[in-house]
Amino acid sequence: MQQSRLENSRAIVTGASSGIGEGIARAYAAAGASVIVNFRSDEEAAERIVKDIREDGGVAEAVQADVSTPDGCARLFEAADEKFGGIDILVSNAGIQRDAAFTDLSLEDWRKVLDVNLTGQFLCAQEAVRRFRGQGLDPDRSPALGKIIFTSSVHQAIPWAGHANYATAKGGIKLLMETMAQELASEKIRVNAIAPGAIKTAINRDAWEDEQARNELLKLIPYGRIGNTEDVAEAAIWLASDASDYVVGTTLFVDGGMMLYPAFREGG
Ligand code: BGC
Repeated sequence: MQQSRLENSRAIVTGASSGIGEGIARAYAAAGASVIVNFRSDEEAAERIVKDIREDGGVAEAVQADVSTPDGCARLFEAADEKFGGIDILVSNAGIQRDAAFTDLSLEDWRKVLDVNLTGQFLCAQEAVRRFRGQGLDPDRSPALGKIIFTSSVHQAIPWAGHANYATAKGGIKLLMETMAQELASEKIRVNAIAPGAIKTAINRDAWEDEQARNELLKLIPYGRIGNTEDVAEAAIWLASDASDYVVGTTLFVDGGMMLYPAFREGG
């Protein structure tokens, strides 16, 4: 891996105390970025990640914030200002699942998932755009005024029984991202998304922990393996770097082919 792809960049990664967010935060720091490692409740995990990053010579700060509130998002950008002197990259990643069959899905769990996974991404992205504008373009730093990457999911496109709240939020991210990209590209703000498939993290432990579940899951992945957070982090580095300067409004699927309707290998 090239180590310097994000040198001189300052990034916020929301939901970075575990899973895909943790993987992206670690990889960004290793690629040279200064990183705000956002957590909501697991301070210990966030501080451990920051400690590891610093021991490897990287720059990171753990910042508590609930991204589903405007104040929470604002706090992240204030921390980036204070610690790093500004912000170049937002990875709007924080997400949760509260799964239930459709008629069992409580209003509370519907709202909770929409609040974090969609409204939270909207609020932090809105704050990012305001901050980018306030800072102004610095061509010595980057041809872009700023970059926003949403963590979406294959479920922005694949319906998912038992997960109506989650799939709705991810479908919403798709058009939020595309609308923002269309609206903001002329200001040199690049907005894109990464749509992971089954990545081995705590959120989908039930799908990979025991052998039977894992074999069922693998039937959905043509490439024949479950993804890891590094697979997603590599894509996130590229999308945040100027190597992808002409990539605007795209969803990059990192899913081992899950989007390819693998059931049709045998049917249809
Ligand atoms: C979900 C995981 C799931 C994956 C593939 C992700 O967005 O969070 O639980 O394994 O999609 O279905």
